[in-house]
Amino acid sequence: MNRIDVRLLRALLKATSGLSLEELSSDTHLPSELLSERIDALIHEGFDIIRHPILGIQLSSTPSRLIPEDIAARVAPETLLATDILVFQETGSTNDACAKLGVDNAQEGTVVFAESQTSGRGRLGRVWSSKSGEGLWFSVLVRPDWPMADWTRLTLCAALAVRNAVAEATGLNPQIKWPNDIILHGRKLAGILLESRPGAAKTGFVVIGIGLNVGQSAFPEPLQSIATSLQIETGRTFRRAGLAASILTRLDAHYAEAKENFPSILAACTAHSFTLGKPVQIQTGNEVVTGVATEFSESGGLVVRHQDGSLRTIDSGEIILPSAG
Ligand code: BTN
Repeated sequence: MNRIDVRLLRALLKATSGLSLEELSSDTHLPSELLSERIDALIHEGFDIIRHPILGIQLSSTPSRLIPEDIAARVAPETLLATDILVFQETGSTNDACAKLGVDNAQEGTVVFAESQTSGRGRLGRVWSSKSGEGLWFSVLVRPDWPMADWTRLTLCAALAVRNAVAEATGLNPQIKWPNDIILHGRKLAGILLESRPGAAKTGFVVIGIGLNVGQSAFPEPLQSIATSLQIETGRTFRRAGLAASILTRLDAHYAEAKENFPSILAACTAHSFTLGKPVQIQTGNEVVTGVATEFSESGGLVVRHQDGSLRTIDSGEIILPSAG
């Protein structure tokens, strides 16, 4: 049974002071008789709600566990990429869970979160540590109607969404390390794993997997020198639902923008790039490409200038040098 009313939660989250039953009723279009029942349901789920005879009804805290309706209530209402939000306590990989839903015709905007992943993975088959409650581990199902050659653009859309959401929440300046890392103070804060199932328009799909380290207070060796979290960088704790909603809202906007005007996404990624302008060594397939990273290509690849001045576009690869740190 769906116990949490998203409209009510959205109204309570938005309010800057207590609301009367009448105000809540007009905000939510719920009759006041139903409201008390819905408020009780929220309290039952762990939301702290103050009901004061004079000051009105006010939300004072929300649970730290991920709750689909809590995320949905924080996403901008017009957001299409959060049509159906699922939260698993534990799953192998949210990318696999999301891909399975994609094969079963789930709609674009289906999002799968997990509190923990038992086989979370990064690019090149690396293990992605995904302990319970420590971060945001989630995957978004997208069915782009663009040419498949351009689906890789979604990595930059996701990177920009994560980068901007983190910048807004922390006041810090994370950078995008092509193709899929978000770097803060020289260490990796987040990673993106794009996996696609080709198919005709709207039957094929892309799973955008996002891992954001939030609440870790330390990383064990050998991760200590290369990974970081929001808690480590700021000394603060963060509500993951708010961060998730901010990322989804931004991803939705960047996805829409990428269809119309991808150069504007490229310009924003360029402004926050860790990679551009630096000498790089990139492993692509069995080859190592050496040169200076000059710009992003139209499909989200990296253009490298060799010493002799010639240019080469790398569609996917792994930057060996410079490392983040
Ligand atoms: C990388 O840095 O190589 C990408 C890391 C991506 C991790 C996320 S966590 C959610 C989703 N599920 C996975 O198994 N991986 C991605």
